[in-house]
Amino acid sequence: MSEKVYVFDTTLRDGEQVPGCQLNTVEKIEVAKALEVLGVDIIEAGFPISSPGDFNSVVEISKVVTEPTICALTRAVEKDIDVAAESLKYARNKRIHTGIGTSYYHIHLKLKSNPEEIIERAIAAVKYAKKYVDDVEFYAEDAGRTENEYLARVIEAVIKAGATVLNIPDTTGYCLPQEFGEKIKFLKENVKNIDKAIISTHCHNDLGMATANTISGVINGARQVEVTINGIGERAGNTSLEEVAMILKSRKHLGLDTGINTKNIFSTSKLISGLMNMPVQPNKAIVGRNAFAHSSGIHQDGVLKNRENYEIIDPADVGISESSIDLTARSGRAALKHRLSRLGYDLKKQELDAVYEKFLLLADKKKDIKDEDLQVLIGKEENKVNQAMKLEKLQVLCGKSAIPTATVTLNFNEELFTETASGNGPVDAAFNAIKKLVHTRFKLEEFLVQAITRGSNDLGKVHVQIENKGRYYYGFAGNTDIITASVEALLDAVNKIV
Ligand code: KIV
Ligand code: ZN
Repeated sequence: MSEKVYVFDTTLRDGEQVPGCQLNTVEKIEVAKALEVLGVDIIEAGFPISSPGDFNSVVEISKVVTEPTICALTRAVEKDIDVAAESLKYARNKRIHTGIGTSYYHIHLKLKSNPEEIIERAIAAVKYAKKYVDDVEFYAEDAGRTENEYLARVIEAVIKAGATVLNIPDTTGYCLPQEFGEKIKFLKENVKNIDKAIISTHCHNDLGMATANTISGVINGARQVEVTINGIGERAGNTSLEEVAMILKSRKHLGLDTGINTKNIFSTSKLISGLMNMPVQPNKAIVGRNAFAHSSGIHQDGVLKNRENYEIIDPADVGISESSIDLTARSGRAALKHRLSRLGYDLKKQELDAVYEKFLLLADKKKDIKDEDLQVLIGKEENKVNQAMKLEKLQVLCGKSAIPTATVTLNFNEELFTETASGNGPVDAAFNAIKKLVHTRFKLEEFLVQAITRGSNDLGKVHVQIENKGRYYYGFAGNTDIITASVEALLDAVNKIV
Protein backbone atom coordinates (compact mmCIF):
# COMPACT_ATOMS: atom_id res chain seq x y z
CA MET A 1 0.00 0.00 0.00
CA SER A 2 1.57 3.32 -1.06
CA GLU A 3 1.64 6.44 1.07
CA LYS A 4 -0.22 9.50 -0.17
CA VAL A 5 1.71 12.55 -1.40
CA TYR A 6 -0.60 15.57 -1.61
CA VAL A 7 -0.43 17.60 -4.80
CA PHE A 8 -0.63 21.36 -4.27
CA ASP A 9 -0.94 23.02 -7.67
CA THR A 10 0.23 26.61 -7.92
CA THR A 11 -0.16 27.10 -11.68
CA LEU A 12 -2.68 29.86 -11.01
CA ARG A 13 -0.46 31.68 -8.53
CA ASP A 14 3.29 31.07 -8.91
CA GLY A 15 2.79 29.82 -12.50
CA GLU A 16 0.76 32.82 -13.45
CA GLN A 17 3.53 35.18 -12.32
CA VAL A 18 5.28 34.53 -15.66
CA PRO A 19 5.39 37.85 -17.56
CA GLY A 20 2.86 37.96 -20.39
CA CYS A 21 1.00 34.83 -19.26
CA GLN A 22 -1.73 36.40 -17.14
CA LEU A 23 -5.17 34.82 -17.37
CA ASN A 24 -8.55 36.41 -16.88
CA THR A 25 -11.08 35.03 -14.39
CA VAL A 26 -12.96 32.95 -16.97
CA GLU A 27 -9.72 31.32 -18.10
CA LYS A 28 -8.65 30.70 -14.52
CA ILE A 29 -11.93 28.94 -13.82
CA GLU A 30 -11.36 26.72 -16.85
CA VAL A 31 -7.89 25.85 -15.56
CA ALA A 32 -9.14 25.22 -12.02
CA LYS A 33 -11.84 22.85 -13.32
CA ALA A 34 -9.22 20.98 -15.36
CA LEU A 35 -7.02 20.71 -12.28
CA GLU A 36 -9.97 19.28 -10.34
CA VAL A 37 -10.48 16.63 -13.05
CA LEU A 38 -6.75 15.93 -12.98
CA GLY A 39 -7.13 15.12 -9.28
CA VAL A 40 -4.96 17.72 -7.54
CA ASP A 41 -5.60 18.03 -3.80
CA ILE A 42 -5.05 21.75 -3.34
CA ILE A 43 -5.38 24.60 -5.84
CA GLU A 44 -3.51 27.79 -4.97
CA ALA A 45 -5.94 30.08 -6.74
CA GLY A 46 -4.20 33.41 -6.27
CA PHE A 47 -2.74 36.16 -4.07
CA PRO A 48 -5.96 38.08 -3.33
CA ILE A 49 -4.43 41.27 -1.89
CA SER A 50 -2.32 41.73 -5.04
CA SER A 51 -5.15 42.93 -7.30
CA PRO A 52 -8.97 43.04 -7.57
CA GLY A 53 -8.67 40.58 -10.49
CA ASP A 54 -6.80 38.05 -8.35
CA PHE A 55 -9.29 38.50 -5.51
CA ASN A 56 -12.21 37.96 -7.86
CA SER A 57 -10.65 34.86 -9.39
CA VAL A 58 -10.27 33.23 -5.96
CA VAL A 59 -13.92 34.05 -5.19
CA GLU A 60 -15.20 32.60 -8.47
CA ILE A 61 -13.01 29.49 -8.36
CA SER A 62 -14.19 28.86 -4.78
CA LYS A 63 -17.79 28.84 -6.00
CA VAL A 64 -17.36 26.28 -8.78
CA VAL A 65 -14.53 23.98 -7.74
CA THR A 66 -15.64 21.79 -4.88
CA GLU A 67 -13.38 18.77 -4.54
CA PRO A 68 -9.88 20.24 -3.99
CA THR A 69 -9.02 22.63 -1.18
CA ILE A 70 -8.83 26.21 -2.43
CA CYS A 71 -5.84 28.11 -1.11
CA ALA A 72 -5.04 31.83 -1.07
CA LEU A 73 -1.56 33.29 -0.56
CA THR A 74 -0.69 36.11 1.84
CA ARG A 75 2.33 37.80 3.33
CA ALA A 76 2.62 37.75 7.14
CA VAL A 77 0.43 40.85 7.21
CA GLU A 78 -3.02 41.09 8.84
CA LYS A 79 -4.63 43.00 5.96
CA ASP A 80 -3.46 40.33 3.47
CA ILE A 81 -4.96 37.63 5.68
CA ASP A 82 -8.29 39.48 6.05
CA VAL A 83 -8.57 39.82 2.26
CA ALA A 84 -7.58 36.19 1.66
CA ALA A 85 -10.20 34.99 4.16
CA GLU A 86 -12.85 37.12 2.46
CA SER A 87 -11.92 35.74 -0.99
CA LEU A 88 -12.30 32.18 0.30
CA LYS A 89 -15.74 32.66 1.79
CA TYR A 90 -17.49 30.37 -0.74
CA ALA A 91 -14.84 27.63 -0.70
CA ARG A 92 -15.97 24.24 0.61
CA ASN A 93 -12.43 23.39 1.76
CA LYS A 94 -10.21 26.42 2.35
CA ARG A 95 -6.62 27.12 3.26
CA ILE A 96 -4.66 30.29 3.96
CA HIS A 97 -1.01 30.17 2.92
CA THR A 98 0.97 32.73 4.90
CA GLY A 99 4.66 33.17 5.55
CA ILE A 100 7.79 35.23 5.69
CA GLY A 101 11.43 35.15 4.53
CA THR A 102 13.82 33.25 6.79
CA SER A 103 17.20 33.36 5.03
CA TYR A 104 19.93 35.84 5.92
CA TYR A 105 19.16 37.73 2.69
CA HIS A 106 15.46 38.01 3.39
CA ILE A 107 15.73 38.82 7.10
CA HIS A 108 18.46 41.44 6.85
CA LEU A 109 18.47 42.76 3.31
CA LYS A 110 14.82 42.49 2.28
CA LEU A 111 12.84 42.79 5.52
CA LYS A 112 15.50 44.84 7.43
CA SER A 113 14.69 42.82 10.51
CA ASN A 114 16.34 40.27 12.80
CA PRO A 115 15.84 36.53 13.37
CA GLU A 116 13.87 36.86 16.62
CA GLU A 117 11.45 39.41 15.21
CA ILE A 118 10.86 37.18 12.19
CA ILE A 119 9.83 34.30 14.47
CA GLU A 120 7.41 36.62 16.29
CA ARG A 121 5.90 37.81 13.00
CA ALA A 122 5.57 34.24 11.76
CA ILE A 123 3.75 33.16 14.93
CA ALA A 124 1.46 36.19 14.81
CA ALA A 125 0.53 35.58 11.15
CA VAL A 126 -0.33 31.92 11.74
CA LYS A 127 -2.41 32.75 14.83
CA TYR A 128 -4.22 35.48 12.93
CA ALA A 129 -5.00 33.19 9.97
CA LYS A 130 -6.22 30.53 12.42
CA LYS A 131 -9.03 32.90 13.45
CA TYR A 132 -10.48 32.40 9.97
CA VAL A 133 -9.58 28.82 8.95
CA ASP A 134 -8.36 25.58 10.49
CA ASP A 135 -6.08 24.77 7.60
CA VAL A 136 -3.12 27.17 7.70
CA GLU A 137 0.00 26.58 5.65
CA PHE A 138 3.16 28.45 6.60
CA TYR A 139 5.99 29.16 4.12
CA ALA A 140 9.53 29.95 5.19
CA GLU A 141 10.51 31.90 2.10
CA ASP A 142 14.04 31.12 0.85
CA ALA A 143 14.23 28.10 3.18
CA GLY A 144 16.67 26.64 0.64
CA ARG A 145 19.26 29.19 1.80
CA THR A 146 18.19 29.25 5.46
CA GLU A 147 20.39 27.58 8.10
CA ASN A 148 18.75 24.35 9.21
CA GLU A 149 18.95 25.13 12.95
CA TYR A 150 17.19 28.46 12.57
CA LEU A 151 14.66 27.01 10.14
CA ALA A 152 13.85 24.31 12.70
CA ARG A 153 13.17 26.98 15.34
CA VAL A 154 10.82 28.86 13.02
CA ILE A 155 8.98 25.69 12.05
CA GLU A 156 8.60 24.52 15.66
CA ALA A 157 7.17 27.91 16.60
CA VAL A 158 4.59 27.99 13.80
CA ILE A 159 3.45 24.42 14.52
CA LYS A 160 2.83 25.54 18.10
CA ALA A 161 0.88 28.52 16.73
CA GLY A 162 -1.36 26.15 14.73
CA ALA A 163 0.18 25.67 11.26
CA THR A 164 -1.02 22.42 9.68
CA VAL A 165 1.27 22.42 6.62
CA LEU A 166 4.90 23.58 6.55
CA ASN A 167 6.17 24.80 3.23
CA ILE A 168 9.97 24.64 2.79
CA PRO A 169 10.51 26.60 -0.43
CA ASP A 170 13.76 26.57 -2.33
CA THR A 171 12.73 30.01 -3.57
CA THR A 172 15.87 30.69 -5.57
CA GLY A 173 16.39 27.13 -6.87
CA TYR A 174 19.76 27.01 -5.07
CA CYS A 175 19.81 23.59 -3.40
CA LEU A 176 21.28 20.35 -4.63
CA PRO A 177 19.02 17.31 -4.28
CA GLN A 178 21.02 15.75 -1.44
CA GLU A 179 21.14 19.06 0.44
CA PHE A 180 17.43 19.63 0.07
CA GLY A 181 16.65 16.07 1.18
CA GLU A 182 18.88 16.53 4.22
CA LYS A 183 17.05 19.74 5.12
CA ILE A 184 13.73 17.89 5.21
CA LYS A 185 15.29 15.04 7.18
CA PHE A 186 16.78 17.54 9.64
CA LEU A 187 13.35 19.05 10.26
CA LYS A 188 11.77 15.59 10.67
CA GLU A 189 14.39 14.68 13.24
CA ASN A 190 14.77 17.95 15.13
CA VAL A 191 11.42 19.73 15.27
CA LYS A 192 9.10 18.98 18.18
CA ASN A 193 5.61 17.88 17.04
CA ILE A 194 6.68 17.74 13.39
CA ASP A 195 4.39 14.72 12.95
CA LYS A 196 1.37 16.93 13.71
CA ALA A 197 1.88 18.75 10.37
CA ILE A 198 2.64 17.94 6.77
CA ILE A 199 5.96 19.05 5.29
CA SER A 200 5.69 20.51 1.80
CA THR A 201 8.28 21.07 -0.93
CA HIS A 202 8.19 24.13 -3.20
CA CYS A 203 11.20 24.03 -5.50
CA HIS A 204 12.22 26.48 -8.19
CA ASN A 205 14.19 25.44 -11.23
CA ASP A 206 17.02 27.98 -11.52
CA LEU A 207 19.65 25.24 -11.71
CA GLY A 208 17.35 22.68 -13.37
CA MET A 209 17.01 20.83 -10.04
CA ALA A 210 13.38 21.50 -9.15
CA THR A 211 12.05 18.00 -9.79
CA ALA A 212 15.13 16.27 -8.38
CA ASN A 213 14.93 18.39 -5.20
CA THR A 214 11.21 17.70 -4.83
CA ILE A 215 11.73 13.96 -5.15
CA SER A 216 14.59 14.10 -2.68
CA GLY A 217 12.24 15.99 -0.35
CA VAL A 218 9.52 13.34 -0.48
CA ILE A 219 12.04 10.51 -0.10
CA ASN A 220 13.08 12.21 3.13
CA GLY A 221 9.61 12.70 4.53
CA ALA A 222 7.78 15.57 2.79
CA ARG A 223 4.19 14.56 1.99
CA GLN A 224 3.04 17.52 -0.08
CA VAL A 225 4.57 18.77 -3.34
CA GLU A 226 3.98 22.26 -4.74
CA VAL A 227 4.00 22.10 -8.50
CA THR A 228 2.78 23.72 -11.70
CA ILE A 229 1.63 22.29 -15.02
CA ASN A 230 4.48 22.30 -17.56
CA GLY A 231 6.75 23.57 -14.77
CA ILE A 232 5.81 27.18 -15.49
CA GLY A 233 6.61 29.87 -12.95
CA GLU A 234 8.91 32.74 -11.97
CA ARG A 235 12.24 32.79 -13.85
CA ALA A 236 13.16 29.19 -14.75
CA GLY A 237 9.86 27.96 -13.31
CA ASN A 238 8.63 25.60 -10.61
CA THR A 239 8.64 21.84 -10.24
CA SER A 240 6.43 20.36 -12.91
CA LEU A 241 3.40 18.38 -11.80
CA GLU A 242 3.61 15.88 -14.62
CA GLU A 243 7.21 14.96 -13.84
CA VAL A 244 6.58 14.31 -10.15
CA ALA A 245 3.35 12.38 -10.81
CA MET A 246 5.03 10.15 -13.40
CA ILE A 247 8.18 9.59 -11.33
CA LEU A 248 6.13 8.37 -8.38
CA LYS A 249 3.90 6.29 -10.66
CA SER A 250 6.76 4.63 -12.55
CA ARG A 251 9.18 4.16 -9.63
CA LYS A 252 6.84 2.07 -7.47
CA HIS A 253 9.58 1.01 -5.07
CA LEU A 254 9.37 4.48 -3.48
CA GLY A 255 5.96 3.45 -2.13
CA LEU A 256 4.45 6.90 -2.80
CA ASP A 257 1.38 7.87 -4.78
CA THR A 258 -0.07 11.23 -5.83
CA GLY A 259 -3.51 9.98 -6.90
CA ILE A 260 -3.25 12.13 -10.07
CA ASN A 261 -5.43 10.94 -12.97
CA THR A 262 -2.41 10.76 -15.21
CA LYS A 263 -4.44 10.15 -18.38
CA ASN A 264 -5.48 13.82 -18.14
CA ILE A 265 -1.92 15.14 -18.01
CA PHE A 266 -1.44 15.82 -21.71
CA SER A 267 -4.77 17.57 -22.23
CA THR A 268 -4.19 19.75 -19.15
CA SER A 269 -0.71 20.63 -20.38
CA LYS A 270 -2.11 21.65 -23.77
CA LEU A 271 -4.86 23.70 -22.13
CA ILE A 272 -2.36 25.67 -20.03
CA SER A 273 0.14 26.28 -22.81
CA GLY A 274 -2.68 27.38 -25.12
CA LEU A 275 -4.33 29.74 -22.64
CA MET A 276 -1.03 31.21 -21.47
CA ASN A 277 0.45 31.40 -24.95
CA MET A 278 3.46 29.57 -23.66
CA PRO A 279 4.63 26.75 -25.92
CA VAL A 280 6.06 23.66 -24.25
CA GLN A 281 9.68 23.00 -25.26
CA PRO A 282 9.72 20.01 -27.64
CA ASN A 283 12.05 17.94 -25.46
CA LYS A 284 10.18 18.67 -22.19
CA ALA A 285 9.85 15.47 -20.14
CA ILE A 286 6.40 13.82 -20.32
CA VAL A 287 4.52 16.51 -22.29
CA GLY A 288 6.99 17.79 -24.93
CA ARG A 289 6.21 17.06 -28.58
CA ASN A 290 9.25 14.77 -28.76
CA ALA A 291 8.76 13.02 -25.41
CA PHE A 292 7.42 9.91 -27.19
CA ALA A 293 8.87 10.49 -30.68
CA HIS A 294 11.59 8.23 -32.04
CA SER A 295 13.79 9.29 -34.90
CA SER A 296 16.89 7.12 -35.14
CA GLY A 297 16.64 3.89 -37.12
CA ILE A 298 17.83 1.67 -34.25
CA HIS A 299 15.35 3.17 -31.79
CA GLN A 300 12.47 3.06 -34.29
CA ASP A 301 13.11 -0.58 -35.06
CA GLY A 302 13.34 -1.33 -31.32
CA VAL A 303 10.11 0.49 -30.48
CA LEU A 304 8.22 -1.17 -33.34
CA LYS A 305 9.32 -4.57 -32.01
CA ASN A 306 8.40 -3.71 -28.43
CA ARG A 307 7.57 -0.24 -27.14
CA GLU A 308 9.32 -0.89 -23.84
CA ASN A 309 12.69 -1.28 -25.57
CA TYR A 310 12.97 2.50 -25.60
CA GLU A 311 10.08 3.82 -23.51
CA ILE A 312 9.72 3.70 -19.73
CA ILE A 313 6.26 5.28 -19.78
CA ASP A 314 3.31 4.15 -21.85
CA PRO A 315 2.20 7.34 -23.68
CA ALA A 316 -1.41 6.26 -23.11
CA ASP A 317 -0.82 6.68 -19.35
CA VAL A 318 -0.43 10.44 -19.84
CA GLY A 319 -3.18 10.72 -22.44
CA ILE A 320 -1.06 10.57 -25.60
CA SER A 321 -2.56 8.08 -28.03
CA GLU A 322 0.70 6.52 -29.21
CA SER A 323 4.43 6.98 -29.66
CA SER A 324 5.40 8.63 -32.91
CA ILE A 325 7.90 7.44 -35.42
CA ASP A 326 9.36 10.48 -37.17
CA LEU A 327 10.75 9.88 -40.62
CA THR A 328 14.17 11.45 -41.02
CA ALA A 329 17.43 10.61 -42.79
CA ARG A 330 18.24 8.37 -39.81
CA SER A 331 15.12 6.22 -40.15
CA GLY A 332 15.34 2.64 -41.30
CA ARG A 333 13.14 0.47 -43.50
CA ALA A 334 11.07 -0.69 -40.52
CA ALA A 335 9.89 2.85 -39.82
CA LEU A 336 9.17 3.59 -43.46
CA LYS A 337 7.18 0.36 -43.84
CA HIS A 338 5.23 1.14 -40.66
CA ARG A 339 4.29 4.64 -41.83
CA LEU A 340 3.34 3.45 -45.32
CA SER A 341 1.12 0.75 -43.92
CA ARG A 342 -0.67 3.34 -41.75
CA LEU A 343 -1.36 5.20 -44.97
CA GLY A 344 -2.79 1.99 -46.44
CA TYR A 345 0.17 0.89 -48.60
CA ASP A 346 1.57 -2.56 -47.95
CA LEU A 347 4.65 -2.84 -50.12
CA LYS A 348 6.51 -6.03 -50.99
CA LYS A 349 10.21 -6.20 -50.03
CA GLN A 350 11.53 -5.17 -53.43
CA GLU A 351 9.08 -2.28 -53.74
CA LEU A 352 9.98 -1.13 -50.25
CA ASP A 353 13.70 -1.24 -51.07
CA ALA A 354 13.13 0.96 -54.11
CA VAL A 355 11.04 3.49 -52.18
CA TYR A 356 13.59 3.46 -49.35
CA GLU A 357 16.36 4.51 -51.75
CA LYS A 358 14.30 7.46 -52.95
CA PHE A 359 13.28 8.21 -49.38
CA LEU A 360 16.91 8.55 -48.25
CA LEU A 361 17.70 10.95 -51.09
CA LEU A 362 14.75 13.11 -50.13
CA ALA A 363 15.45 12.88 -46.40
CA ASP A 364 18.95 14.26 -46.95
CA LYS A 365 17.37 17.43 -48.33
CA LYS A 366 14.27 17.70 -46.15
CA LYS A 367 14.43 17.37 -42.35
CA ASP A 368 11.03 15.88 -41.70
CA ILE A 369 9.28 13.67 -44.23
CA LYS A 370 5.51 14.07 -44.22
CA ASP A 371 2.89 11.68 -45.47
CA GLU A 372 2.28 13.74 -48.60
CA ASP A 373 6.00 13.37 -49.45
CA LEU A 374 5.61 9.61 -49.19
CA GLN A 375 2.61 9.71 -51.49
CA VAL A 376 4.78 11.43 -54.07
CA LEU A 377 7.62 8.95 -53.55
CA ILE A 378 5.42 5.96 -54.20
CA GLY A 379 3.72 7.65 -57.15
CA LYS A 380 0.31 7.66 -55.48
CA GLU A 381 -0.14 11.40 -55.15
CA GLU A 382 -3.65 12.38 -55.94
CA ASN A 383 -3.88 14.50 -59.01
CA LYS A 384 -5.49 17.67 -57.74
CA VAL A 385 -6.84 18.42 -61.21
CA ASN A 386 -9.00 15.33 -60.97
CA GLN A 387 -10.23 15.97 -57.46
CA ALA A 388 -13.92 15.29 -56.98
CA MET A 389 -14.41 18.43 -54.95
CA LYS A 390 -12.95 21.81 -55.84
CA LEU A 391 -13.17 25.20 -54.24
CA GLU A 392 -15.20 27.45 -56.50
CA LYS A 393 -15.68 30.48 -54.29
CA LEU A 394 -14.83 31.60 -50.77
CA GLN A 395 -16.03 34.71 -49.00
CA VAL A 396 -15.19 35.54 -45.41
CA LEU A 397 -16.27 38.19 -43.01
CA CYS A 398 -13.97 38.79 -40.07
CA GLY A 399 -12.23 41.51 -38.11
CA LYS A 400 -12.50 43.20 -34.74
CA SER A 401 -16.03 42.86 -33.31
CA ALA A 402 -17.32 40.91 -36.34
CA ILE A 403 -18.64 37.36 -35.96
CA PRO A 404 -16.32 35.39 -38.23
CA THR A 405 -18.48 33.99 -41.02
CA ALA A 406 -17.59 32.15 -44.21
CA THR A 407 -19.52 31.24 -47.34
CA VAL A 408 -18.00 28.39 -49.31
CA THR A 409 -19.05 27.21 -52.77
CA LEU A 410 -17.78 23.80 -53.82
CA ASN A 411 -17.81 22.28 -57.24
CA PHE A 412 -18.78 18.59 -56.97
CA ASN A 413 -18.35 17.07 -60.41
CA GLU A 414 -19.43 20.31 -62.10
CA GLU A 415 -22.40 20.94 -59.78
CA LEU A 416 -22.16 23.89 -57.37
CA PHE A 417 -23.16 23.77 -53.69
CA THR A 418 -22.94 26.64 -51.19
CA GLU A 419 -23.03 26.79 -47.40
CA THR A 420 -22.41 29.51 -44.82
CA ALA A 421 -21.18 29.00 -41.27
CA SER A 422 -19.60 30.94 -38.43
CA GLY A 423 -16.72 29.96 -36.18
CA ASN A 424 -14.20 31.29 -33.70
CA GLY A 425 -12.14 32.71 -36.56
CA PRO A 426 -12.33 32.88 -40.37
CA VAL A 427 -10.59 29.53 -40.88
CA ASP A 428 -12.81 27.81 -38.34
CA ALA A 429 -15.89 29.36 -40.01
CA ALA A 430 -14.78 28.13 -43.46
CA PHE A 431 -14.03 24.64 -42.11
CA ASN A 432 -17.49 24.56 -40.51
CA ALA A 433 -19.06 25.46 -43.87
CA ILE A 434 -17.13 22.61 -45.52
CA LYS A 435 -18.29 20.21 -42.82
CA LYS A 436 -21.87 21.14 -43.74
CA LEU A 437 -21.15 20.55 -47.43
CA VAL A 438 -19.39 17.19 -47.28
CA HIS A 439 -21.12 14.22 -45.78
CA THR A 440 -17.93 12.36 -44.86
CA ARG A 441 -17.18 12.68 -41.16
CA PHE A 442 -13.60 13.56 -40.23
CA LYS A 443 -11.67 14.92 -37.30
CA LEU A 444 -9.09 17.64 -37.72
CA GLU A 445 -5.89 16.31 -36.10
CA GLU A 446 -3.33 18.89 -37.15
CA PHE A 447 -3.36 22.32 -38.72
CA LEU A 448 -0.09 23.99 -39.51
CA VAL A 449 0.41 27.36 -41.20
CA GLN A 450 3.86 28.44 -42.34
CA ALA A 451 5.09 31.47 -44.22
CA ILE A 452 7.81 30.70 -46.73
CA THR A 453 9.77 33.87 -45.96
CA ARG A 454 9.03 36.72 -43.62
CA GLY A 455 7.15 39.23 -45.76
CA SER A 456 3.44 39.98 -45.30
CA ASN A 457 2.92 39.52 -49.08
CA ASP A 458 4.36 36.05 -48.86
CA LEU A 459 2.96 32.69 -49.87
CA GLY A 460 1.47 30.82 -46.92
CA LYS A 461 1.74 27.03 -46.79
CA VAL A 462 -0.90 25.06 -44.92
CA HIS A 463 -0.68 21.43 -43.89
CA VAL A 464 -3.68 19.67 -42.39
CA GLN A 465 -4.11 16.16 -41.13
CA ILE A 466 -7.55 14.67 -40.68
CA GLU A 467 -8.70 11.35 -39.32
CA ASN A 468 -11.47 9.23 -40.78
CA LYS A 469 -12.28 5.71 -39.54
CA GLY A 470 -8.84 5.31 -37.94
CA ARG A 471 -6.92 6.37 -41.04
CA TYR A 472 -5.03 9.60 -41.49
CA TYR A 473 -5.12 11.84 -44.56
CA TYR A 474 -2.87 14.80 -45.27
CA GLY A 475 -3.77 17.87 -47.21
CA PHE A 476 -1.51 20.63 -48.38
CA ALA A 477 -1.97 23.94 -50.19
CA GLY A 478 -0.12 27.18 -50.72
CA ASN A 479 -1.65 30.58 -51.44
CA THR A 480 -0.92 34.23 -50.66
CA ASP A 481 -4.35 34.22 -49.01
CA ILE A 482 -3.90 32.12 -45.91
CA ILE A 483 -7.63 31.37 -45.49
CA THR A 484 -7.92 30.15 -49.06
CA ALA A 485 -4.79 28.04 -48.52
CA SER A 486 -6.37 26.54 -45.38
CA VAL A 487 -9.59 25.66 -47.18
CA GLU A 488 -7.74 24.15 -50.14
CA ALA A 489 -5.52 22.11 -47.83
CA LEU A 490 -8.59 20.74 -46.04
CA LEU A 491 -10.27 19.90 -49.35
CA ASP A 492 -7.07 18.20 -50.50
CA ALA A 493 -7.28 15.91 -47.47
CA VAL A 494 -11.04 15.33 -47.71
CA ASN A 495 -10.74 14.46 -51.41
CA LYS A 496 -8.36 11.67 -50.44
CA ILE A 497 -11.05 10.06 -48.27
CA VAL A 498 -13.69 10.42 -50.93
O1 KIV B 1 9.01 30.53 -4.04
C1 KIV B 1 8.48 30.87 -2.97
O2 KIV B 1 9.12 30.98 -1.92
C2 KIV B 1 7.05 31.15 -2.99
C3 KIV B 1 6.38 31.40 -1.68
C4 KIV B 1 5.54 32.61 -1.72
C5 KIV B 1 5.63 30.18 -1.27
O3 KIV B 1 6.43 31.13 -4.03
ZN1 ZN C 1 7.60 30.05 -5.58
